[in-house]
Amino acid sequence: MLRQLSVLALLISLLFGLLTKTRSQGANLLDLRSERVLLLTAHPDDECMFFAPTLLALAQDYHVRQAEELTSSVIEDDINKGPPVFSLCMSVGNADGLGFTRRDELQQSLNVLGVSKEKSWVVDHPQLQDNFTAIWDSHIIADTIRPFITDNAITIVLTFDGGGVSGHPNHISLPNGVKHLIETTPALSDLRLYTLVTVPLWSKYTGILGPALSALRMPQSVASILQLIGFQSRFMLKNFGDPDGTPEPPKMIFISHISNYVRALRAMQQHSSQLVWFRWLYVTYSRYMWVNEWARIA
Ligand SMILES: *[C@@H]1O[C@H](CO)[C@@H](O)[C@H](O)[C@H]1NC(C)=O
Repeated sequence: MLRQLSVLALLISLLFGLLTKTRSQGANLLDLRSERVLLLTAHPDDECMFFAPTLLALAQDYHVRQAEELTSSVIEDDINKGPPVFSLCMSVGNADGLGFTRRDELQQSLNVLGVSKEKSWVVDHPQLQDNFTAIWDSHIIADTIRPFITDNAITIVLTFDGGGVSGHPNHISLPNGVKHLIETTPALSDLRLYTLVTVPLWSKYTGILGPALSALRMPQSVASILQLIGFQSRFMLKNFGDPDGTPEPPKMIFISHISNYVRALRAMQQHSSQLVWFRWLYVTYSRYMWVNEWARIA
């Protein structure tokens, strides 16, 4: 019985995986014609292990819109070519002394994920080193990221949430740093922060089941499933109300089509120094290779 059930579950999720184009709910929030998005990570390889569905969906969405607009004769200038998606990595990942190599690997991976070299930076700050036990200081994070955000007119920051997906203290420090930045910089009071939802451990390693589970977790899941299997090309932003009728802050979700999953694997392959056996297990079973759910921090 259990075996039949799991085969059925696998078939259903394969169906999701194959039929969905890259879908994004709340994509209108991230209309890249008017937004400039910064992905803030802690270590090289975070971008592909945790954030690939978002980066790939944003790049794709941008190119689709671009193609639509070019036909209505809007001409893009050369200076701002490519999606306005930026990456800032707060360490070179030097815990094992491989910082120099990992910085290069990061750029290779970002290339695969659609973030060009001019739009990505890596910080190597003595107080912000890759360390499995260190909580990074919010003041130092805020001071370090401020110039990148103001110089590039960033409107939205995407980063980890308080669970950090894996519980790594470096990850967990990042949203606190961004909150501190917004609170202490009047000129940046309009900056919006979205954090990647840490799912409970039992659902973290559901792999390709992730898209299906994520659809089922949504309210109006039937409608969502219809959208997922192609009845509507782009999800609309919904304000999910809680039972008392108080609206929750807007949420976004990005789900990868199987081709984007494969691309995320290719990005992971750029991190040769990190490809030990358990990372292969991770990319095979992790839900974050397929789905990113985002919560807006008010
Ligand atoms: C990592 O952080 C801990 C606690 O903050 C500190 O005691 C330790 O010296 C750090 N390790 C390295 C290699 O810097």
